[in-house]
Amino acid sequence: MNVLVVHGPNLNLLGTREPEVYGRVTLEAINAMLEAEGRKLGAEVRTFQSNIEGELVTAIQDARGWADVIIINPAAYTHTSVALRDAIAAVGIPAIEVHLSNVNAREAFRHHSYIAPVAAGTICGFGAEGYRLALIAATTMVKN
Ligand code: DQA
Repeated sequence: MNVLVVHGPNLNLLGTREPEVYGRVTLEAINAMLEAEGRKLGAEVRTFQSNIEGELVTAIQDARGWADVIIINPAAYTHTSVALRDAIAAVGIPAIEVHLSNVNAREAFRHHSYIAPVAAGTICGFGAEGYRLALIAATTMVKN
C-alpha cells in the first residue's frame, strides 16, 4: 500500500510558524513519524511540500499509478483552490484532508473548504497527531 502525503504553503515553517496555533512539531518530524508509522502499518509513505499551487497539482497528478491514498493538508489553498479540488477529483485517488488547527473554530474564511467535497473525510484540530490518524484511516480504508 502506498500513501502520498502532500503539504501545502507555509507548512515548511512548522515548528516556528504561529506555534500557539500550529504547535512546535516541525514538518521534518511529522514526515519522519509518518514514514515510521507507515512501516508499522505496511504502507510506503512519500511526502511532498510546496508553496506553489501548480506544483501541488502536479504532485497529485503524478500520484496516478502509484498512490492508493493521498493525505493532503492544502493549508491556505484549502480555502481558495479550485485547481487542487479538480486535481483530486481528476485522479480518482481517495484523499484525506488534514488540518492541524480546528479551522471551523477560527476565522470565517477558514470555514469553507474547496477540498472537503472531493475528500473521503477530513481530520482537523488535533495538531500533528491528525496526520497519524489520517494514516490509520488511510490503511483502514484501503484494506476494507
Ligand atoms: C491549516 C489551516 C489553514 O487555514 C491555514 O491557511 C494553514 C494551515 C492547518 O493545518 O490548520 O496554512 O491547513
